[in-house]
Amino acid sequence: MIETYVENLKKAFGDFQPEILIILGSGLGSIAQKVENKIIVPYNQIGFPKINIVGHRAELIAGTLGKKKVLCMSGRYHLYEGHPATFVKDMMSAYQKYGIKEVIATNAAGSLRKDMAAGAIMMITDHINFSGQNPLIGVNNDKEGPRFPDMSQAYDKALQQKMRQTAKENNIMLFEGTYFFVVGPNFETKAEIKAFRTLGADAVGMSTVPEVISAVYFGLKVVALSVITNQSADIQKTGLSHEETLFEAKQGAVDLQGLILKYLEK
Ligand code: HPA
Repeated sequence: MIETYVENLKKAFGDFQPEILIILGSGLGSIAQKVENKIIVPYNQIGFPKINIVGHRAELIAGTLGKKKVLCMSGRYHLYEGHPATFVKDMMSAYQKYGIKEVIATNAAGSLRKDMAAGAIMMITDHINFSGQNPLIGVNNDKEGPRFPDMSQAYDKALQQKMRQTAKENNIMLFEGTYFFVVGPNFETKAEIKAFRTLGADAVGMSTVPEVISAVYFGLKVVALSVITNQSADIQKTGLSHEETLFEAKQGAVDLQGLILKYLEK
């Protein structure tokens, strides 16, 4: 399957060789509109499975953004839809074999901090995977990566520094913190929120970690950004909804788009 994905990627984009993969989170698809000389290819042309969630398309957009050759994933494979974590590993393997070197992962997340409100951007500096799921479960191919890969530096230090610098130069407020991965699809209970905060998390969300673990395994460099769409249910008074998540993502997406564009111009 992986070889087929690689072949299809090569066929779809021809001479154009992107080096940076940008994974677009819920409601964050607008960045793709800024891509110049776009080639748009639906996932099914690569052999990737269908996606069924509002706010997510199912296409790859290749082209130039800032000064870089990028491949944007508009539409993400969430485990809560039933996609196996091992698919995420296979997909990352295909991107790595295809020639991708760096991953910019984005997502919509809930804040566990009073000072980090809806619309804020948080750079993920570390994560907690307590989900019981892992894309690397299964027989390991030692030629591809180690059985027990190091995750102590999952988020590339140099890329983080570049992102920090970019934010500073452009007066974009950038929070930093630890992302807690839950499978979902339900939002957290109050007891869960309290537990995650006690464990050291700053934000919580239902994506990104499977992609990051896979990317690190295959030797890709990773930098990741969350757009905060809500504060956790014990901070904000009203209950959470997917509509609200998408609405707030739109506000934060404007800043995120600016930050990523400037980052890619560097
Ligand atoms: N919890 C989990 N995932 C999320 C949230 C949240 O509060 N907001 C956006 N994605």
